Amino acid sequence: MSTIVEVNKIKQRVSSSFPVRRMDYKFQQMPKYWCNNEPTFTHYFTGMSTLFPEGEAFFVRSVRALRHKIKDNPQLDRDISAFIGQEAMHSKEHHAFHLSAQQHGLDPQSLEHITGIVIKTFERIFPKKWNLLVTVGLEHYTAALVVEMMKNVNELMNDDTIRNLWLWHSVEESEHKAVAFDLYENLYGQGLDAYIPRIALFTFSLILITLLSNSYQLILMARDHQLLNIKSWLKFSSFMTQSIRALMPQFLSFYRFDFHPNNHDESELVQKVKAQLGIDNIKIALSN
Ligand SMILES: [Fe+2]
Ligand SMILES: [Fe+2]
Repeated sequence: MSTIVEVNKIKQRVSSSFPVRRMDYKFQQMPKYWCNNEPTFTHYFTGMSTLFPEGEAFFVRSVRALRHKIKDNPQLDRDISAFIGQEAMHSKEHHAFHLSAQQHGLDPQSLEHITGIVIKTFERIFPKKWNLLVTVGLEHYTAALVVEMMKNVNELMNDDTIRNLWLWHSVEESEHKAVAFDLYENLYGQGLDAYIPRIALFTFSLILITLLSNSYQLILMARDHQLLNIKSWLKFSSFMTQSIRALMPQFLSFYRFDFHPNNHDESELVQKVKAQLGIDNIKIALSN
């Protein structure tokens, strides 16, 4: 009993390594093609956005399912609370973005629904360890993507509110990129038996997210009667080629035996974007 009291006292003294920010973006009148003035770009990023509400709710469930096992690590426990707070806020704001995007009649919300079905199907079949590993893998995927978003991709967005949404999300993905990984290492160690499932589930997650985001782009292009817009596809394929070239070394680094998310340091870039957004570091109460 006294040990529990001691742990609770320590927890009260420890604060998370990063804050949870309450955001409430107003997406009222958004341009139809808010990314690079192009349907291909806009529908690719809208499609990706529709993965977030259900995807990030899954990340939260996968971490929550195992966090009780690290209660003797108060710092990681507080960081998990902040991770949950940030991801919940991302889900809420991206969902609000989709509600507003309905104004152009392409029903992005229906894609959120499909994402939910796909995720819950795997979640039911997979053991808790694998679900956590899907989160670990996709957190690395996201951490790599947001570097490109903060460096230059955000400049393609011709709506300030939407650009700020993606930049704020990018900052926070970078802030919490190591949380799921640290939970995994705490629970399963750094040996070969932890490494092999880690890279297997990362490969699976990479294939799944690529299939989903590309399919969603095609669906939105079809709904928008833009499937045969060759000029737009050509612009997008050259953007994609450059992006894959930039992202590949980051993705491949996950296959290193000694990989850790903090091996990549983008703190300077994050600091610059935080200053640009005027994001403060006020913390809110973390209740779970
Ligand atoms: Fe997120
Ligand atoms: Fe995340």
